[in-house]
Amino acid sequence: MAKNFKGMPRIMFMANNIAEEIARLKKEKNAVILAHNYQSPEVQDIADYLGDSLGLSQKAASVKEDVIVFCGVRFMAETAKILSPEKKVLIPVPHAACPLAEMITPEALRKMKSENPGVPVVSYVNTSASVKAETDICCTSSNIVKVAGSLESDKIIFTPDKHLANYLRTKIDKEIISWEGYCPTHVKILPEHVREQKSMHPDAKVLAHPECRLDVLELADEVTSTGGMLKYAKSSPAKEFIIATETGLLYTLRKQNPSKKFYPATELAVCPNMKETRVHDVLESLKEMKHEVDVPKDIRSKAKKSIERMLDLS
Ligand code: 13P
Repeated sequence: MAKNFKGMPRIMFMANNIAEEIARLKKEKNAVILAHNYQSPEVQDIADYLGDSLGLSQKAASVKEDVIVFCGVRFMAETAKILSPEKKVLIPVPHAACPLAEMITPEALRKMKSENPGVPVVSYVNTSASVKAETDICCTSSNIVKVAGSLESDKIIFTPDKHLANYLRTKIDKEIISWEGYCPTHVKILPEHVREQKSMHPDAKVLAHPECRLDVLELADEVTSTGGMLKYAKSSPAKEFIIATETGLLYTLRKQNPSKKFYPATELAVCPNMKETRVHDVLESLKEMKHEVDVPKDIRSKAKKSIERMLDLS
C-alpha cells in the first residue's frame, strides 16, 4: 500500500483517506454534515452544508438524510434536534459548548418574566433548549432587528447577549430589558484593533458581527451575521476587508474571493469551543454513531414554537 502512495506526503495521504472514509460512512448511514462558519478549515472542507446560525437551522429543518452530524457547538445541534426530532443528531465533540448560551438559565429567565409580566421574550439562538422553551421568539444575528420589530409590544425582554441588545437599541425604538451575557470571543475585539487595521489598510471595508461591543460596531461599514459577511464580501466592489468576528470565517471568505484581501480585526478572536471539532472526531462520530443529542419532549415542543416563529419570519 505504501508503494501506491509513494511520494505523497503522509499527512496529505491521511487527510484524503479520512475524507474518503467519511464519504463512505455518510452514504452507508445516510448522513449529512452541517458545519458552522467558525469551524476549522479541515472541518469546513468536509461539510455538506456550511453556514451561519439561521442558515443551519433552516437546513436542519429541511434535510432528507436520517442522520445529521452537527459540527458546531451544543445549542446548534440541539436546535437541529428540536427542528428534526425524527432524525438522529450527532455532535462529534459533546463538550463543545457556547459560553454565551450558558450565561442564562431557564430559572433566571423565569424570574425576569415574573418581574416583567406580559413582556414578550426574544432570545438569541445561542441559548439552551430549556431557555428557548421559556422564549416567545428566537432570533439570530441576521434577523434580530426584523424579529424584535415584528412584536407589537413597545417593551421586550432580550437574552442573553448585552452587546446584541445594545445593537438592537440603535435599530428599534423599544424599551429593551436585557440580560448581562456576552460572547467571550467577540469582546476580545477592541476599537483599537479595528483602528490599527484601518490605518494599515485605509481602503478596507470593516465588517463587524453584532456580538461585538458597540464601540467596535460604530467603526464598521456593515454590521451583519457571518452569512451576511460572506454575501457582502462577494458582492462588494471593495478589494479589502477587515473582519471583526471569529477568525474561522476568514477561511471561507478567502476561498470564495481569491482576488480580495481579508484581515482579521485581531488574531485573538478565536473561539476555542468552535475549534474543538477535528475531522477525526467527525469520522469517529459517524463510525460509532456517537454522540447523540437529545432534548426532552416537553422542552422540545415548547422550544420548537419559539424557533419556528422565527423561521416563519425569515
Ligand atoms: P452567526 O449567526 O452570525 O453565524 O453567529 C453565530 C454565533 O454563534 C456567533 O458567535
